[in-house]
This record gives sequence, structure tokens and C-alpha cells, in this order.
Amino acid sequence: MKKIKVGVLGATGLVGQMLVRLLENHPWFDLSEIAASERSVGKTYLETMKNRWSASESIPVYAKDLKLKECSPGLDCDLVFSALDSGVAGPIEEEFAKAGYAVSSNARNHRMEPDVPLIIPEVNADHAALINAQKKNRAWDGFIVANPNCSTIHLSLALKPLYDSFGIEKVMVTTMQAVSGAGYPGVPSLDSLDNVIPFISGEEEKLESEPLKILGSINGSSVANAVFSISAQCNRVSVRHGHMESVSIKLGRKAETEGIIESLESFNPLEGMGLPSAPRHPIIVRREESRPQPSLDANAEKGMASIIGRIRRCSILDYRFVVLGHNIIRGAAGGTILNAELLRAKGYL
Ligand SMILES: NC(=O)c1ccc[n+]([C@@H]2O[C@H](COP(=O)([O-])OP(=O)(O)OC[C@H]3O[C@@H](n4cnc5c(N)ncnc54)[C@H](OP(=O)(O)O)[C@@H]3O)[C@@H](O)[C@H]2O)c1
Repeated sequence: MKKIKVGVLGATGLVGQMLVRLLENHPWFDLSEIAASERSVGKTYLETMKNRWSASESIPVYAKDLKLKECSPGLDCDLVFSALDSGVAGPIEEEFAKAGYAVSSNARNHRMEPDVPLIIPEVNADHAALINAQKKNRAWDGFIVANPNCSTIHLSLALKPLYDSFGIEKVMVTTMQAVSGAGYPGVPSLDSLDNVIPFISGEEEKLESEPLKILGSINGSSVANAVFSISAQCNRVSVRHGHMESVSIKLGRKAETEGIIESLESFNPLEGMGLPSAPRHPIIVRREESRPQPSLDANAEKGMASIIGRIRRCSILDYRFVVLGHNIIRGAAGGTILNAELLRAKGYL
């Protein structure tokens, strides 16, 4: 299989760096282009990143000498992963799609547009069919596929098996989100250290709306949203990586704890598809009373799983549990790579 040439827009940010790490030796994709803002253009990746690299392992050798380019079409690749700041991502991603590139985006800008698939491969791979409507509506040769918000991804992975097995009527979710979710340099240390900030701009709105599109059903060229209500409260906590969410849920039908665990643990719709970044177990259920925890569990399945624990009855709704997931891997960079792998397997690339 010939490798597809790919580029990373926003390669210098936290998500962009993770994309560069995860694309090293990727069996299907070959990173040939990196791009960022004017202040980085023309420099090598090593020069730009030597004081900004955020991982304990070194900058991958294969990327050191790549030169940063402007985020505009003309890059020598067919697919771009966008890790751009949402302040600029909207028009740049559109320009690329118009120019014929496939865009796999992390940014919020296009997520809720009716002809843009908002995809989690295990949950709604069939929504990729919106690509055809999008190309037709906009007369584009390329297209945009969006990755959901980082908390939405882990919440939706947890909800999907329950939705299919028991139905869902109501969800209440309180998040404890890592500081890396705000990008680099992100939240000032004086605000975040030893503290909890009970507000993340726009986050509650995303968490209350995106899962309904993702769990919705596709009919032809649009998605009919799932019909249940979500109430979200989002907090920034002093954790490096890993978003934790406390969830209470009212189900459509009666369920027992064992049935809930069974539906979560047996959930594995991508099994056998051979997607290189798909986790063997997208959902891991922990039985210990004190798990999951960000520092112990966020890297499970190389950061691509959602880890669920503390499943128990709720005295107001039906059940409650905690779900944890890596915000930068499954919640962003790894999620967009898995989306692109799905598109390749389905023939869209
Ligand atoms: N962090 C997370 O956990 C997470 C999770 C899910 C989704 N996301 C989304 O993913 C995207 C990237 O997030 P991040 O955390 O990596 O942010 P970040 O660390 O702030 O990085 C932002 C990137 O955007 C580039 N950029 C900024 N202004 C630009 C301009 N005018 N033209 C071209 N490039 C520009 C920056 O390049 P320079 O370095 O050259 O300025 C940098 O590469 C955002 O849309 C974010 O909402 C993040």
C-alpha cells in the first residue's frame, strides 16, 4: 500500500507536537509538511521546538530538519491534520478543503455544521457519508472531517454502548479537565497551581451539544440528533494530562450493574478492521474503588482508551460512573489520526 503524504497545520502547539510524535513510522501516512504561524515559518522544526518540546523523549529525528511553512495550500501532501488555534482554524481549513486537501481537524470551528462529519470511529463511522454531501454543497474537491471536543470524545465513547443497549433520557456530567487542554502556554501557573477554576469558555456548550450529533443517526445527507438532555459543568484542575468526568445517567430501560459493565466491556466495533491506531479495548472498566486516576490510567492503550470506573446506582438518576481519557492523544491528535485511518479504510482518501 502506497503511503499517503500528510501535513500538520499547527505543528508547534501541544496537539501538533503529539501529531508529529504519533506519525513517526506510521504504516499508512508519511509526514512530509509542517506548518504554523508567521513567527515559526522558515525555521526547522528543531530550531523552533528546542525550548518548547513538551515530551520527555526527544524530538523525533525524522522531523528535526523539516522546515515550517505557512498554513496555506501549496503544501506537498494530500491530507492535512489541523491542530490550529480555533481563532484562525476556520478559514484556513476551508481554504485547504477548497484546494482539494482532505482535512482532519481538531478545532471546534466546523464541528456543528450540518454537512461536516463529527466522528469518533467506534461510535459513528457511518457519518463519514456526509463527506459526499459536503463536497457537493460546497463544490469542494477536498473536505473537512472534525474530531469532537476532548471531553466529548470520552463521554460519547462511554455513552454509546449504553445508548444502544438501554436508551438514554438524561445525562449530568461534571468535568475535571487537565491544564494541557488549554494548549501551550495555556493557563498561567499562578491561576492553575493548587487550584480549581470552575469555568472553561465554551466547554459546557460543546459537551451539551456535540454528543447529540455524534449519537444521532444519519439519513441521507444530514444527521438527526439523538434526543436526550445533557447538563454539563466544566472545571479546570491542576492535572497535567487526562480529563476526568463524573457522570450520572437516566436510562431509557431498566438495567443491572452487570449488564452495564458487559455492554461497556464488549464494545469494540473496530475489531478486525486493521486500523493501526485503534485500541484493542476502546473502553476499559476498572473495578477498584479508587480508579481511574489521571496519573495512573490516562496512558492506557497508548492514550487511546476511555477508562471507566465507580459504576454504581445513583439515588437521583439511575446510574453514575467516572470516565477518564487522555485529552491530547485520544481527545485530539490520536483521534484525528484514527479518523483519517477510518477514511482511508472506507475509500475516502
Ligand atoms: N490541548 C488539547 O487537549 C486539545 C484537545 C482537543 C482539541 N484541541 C484543539 O486543537 C487545537 C490545537 O490545540 P493546542 O492545545 O495544540 O493549542 P496550542 O498549543 O496553543 O497550539 C496552537 C497552534 O496554532 C498555531 N497558530 C496560532 N496562530 C496561528 C496563525 N495565525 N496562523 C497559523 N498558525 C497559528 C500555533 O503556531 P505558533 O506556535 O507558530 O504560534 C500552534 O502551532 C485547538 O483548536 C484546540 O482547541 C486541543
